[in-house]
Amino acid sequence: MFLARLDHPADFDAWREAARTALALHVPPEEMAFAVSEDPAPLFAEPLPDRPADAAPFNVPKAFPDVARKLICHADPERFVFAYRLLWRLQDEKKLLEIVSDPDTRRAVEMQKAVYRDSHKMKAFVRFREIEDAEGQRQYIAWFEPFHHVVELTAPFFMRRFPGMVWSILTPKRSVHWDGVEMVFAPGADPSQKPADDDMEALWLTYYASIFNPARLKVKAMQAEMPKKYWHNLPEATLIEPLIRGAEAAQRRMIETQPTLPSFRHEKQAERNDMARAASQVPAFNGFNKPPEDIEEAREQARHCKACPLWEPATQTVFGKGPADAPVIFVGEQPGDQEDLAGEPFIGPAGKVFDEALAAAGIDRSQAYVTNAVKHFKFEPRGKRRIHAKPNMGEVKVCRWWLEQERELIKPKLIVALGATAAASVLGKTVTIRDTRSKLIDLPDGTTKLLVTVHPAYILRLPDPEAQAREREAFHADMDRAKAYVPEIALG
Ligand code: URA
Repeated sequence: MFLARLDHPADFDAWREAARTALALHVPPEEMAFAVSEDPAPLFAEPLPDRPADAAPFNVPKAFPDVARKLICHADPERFVFAYRLLWRLQDEKKLLEIVSDPDTRRAVEMQKAVYRDSHKMKAFVRFREIEDAEGQRQYIAWFEPFHHVVELTAPFFMRRFPGMVWSILTPKRSVHWDGVEMVFAPGADPSQKPADDDMEALWLTYYASIFNPARLKVKAMQAEMPKKYWHNLPEATLIEPLIRGAEAAQRRMIETQPTLPSFRHEKQAERNDMARAASQVPAFNGFNKPPEDIEEAREQARHCKACPLWEPATQTVFGKGPADAPVIFVGEQPGDQEDLAGEPFIGPAGKVFDEALAAAGIDRSQAYVTNAVKHFKFEPRGKRRIHAKPNMGEVKVCRWWLEQERELIKPKLIVALGATAAASVLGKTVTIRDTRSKLIDLPDGTTKLLVTVHPAYILRLPDPEAQAREREAFHADMDRAKAYVPEIALG
């Protein structure tokens, strides 16, 4: 019996090294044991020898490393040996992972599902509390109790979501710290290190109570999605029962209350004052300390967004529209007059130019996700008309949080920025169309590309018909570039 020691419960790198060595030495799975740091090891186990320098390379199906990485995160104490057994069998049974009737394959699928679910719950139920460290720096700390060893697997999600904050997530077996530059994993924490209540919690409770919609209350569905075992670490859990109790009366009040018309505040100075106030008051995560779990939840949260003053004169939030797994996201600047009234992006005159270009490139709009850098219509009233006003960078910056949620949840292969405002929001810095147009730019996540083109309204505003025709053609050529990222749909 040979023993490989691993540094921590989800130590995929050490497992992979040991598994490669064991395979090179032809150690059958029954003869292998793995133990995490100081855990007790089987009696009479010998340390695994070094890998022979002349060990022959071996192949595994492309999907296996990812499968193994997830299996290693499972709480099953046999997970390391099990993953090694799969690797061992794959040497002779190349299609093993496709044979769903095989008990090992079935077990692997179930284990991966359990890990995926746990990681998903961590994304949904981690609640940060704000604290001030000894040097007066703001930090965010969360305590979470996962079933499986999902900290390594899930931490990159939080890093992408909250890159500009200093945060830690503590769990009983493992913790992770992000200082804005580097992510460091450490041993688990003691429940006594659990952060206490804070202002953030009060904010979160207010938010939760305000988005609670009595007309949509489905207690069973809610408990299935938010199992009671997570409640003791969820601040809003204390509100759930009183809110359910009050739901019927609240629903009656909603029906009886007449809808109110949006009020209009037009003075420039008032807006400047509002903006300055908003900039200094925008709470972390646009006022939501829980990132949305899916695009529907993001849309629902955004309906209530008041992170900048544009919400007030606008009729409604115009959130993105399209499939939750669209391969391409098109980003415009902000909704126009018609979009503001209908609640859908790009349905007015600029939308027509956009639709024509998509049709010319053979892109089916229903396959794409279409959204805007700013989700509320900014305008200036002229008599009965509302004239488009360009959003300022402060507003773009505040609203960028929503675009980040859309990007994170949809994970497109390509983002097409329609105009400079959209490009600035995607990149987090201003760029010129001249410098960036039509190039495929790699975004820092390493998987998404950005294509910058003009805004369709720019084409409409060109007074010279010839220049307009030229620009339309160039815009269509950019859509042809985007087409490469949209799968063909079989017609008929
Ligand atoms: N212009 C945009 O940028 N977006 C829209 O949704 C409509 C017009």
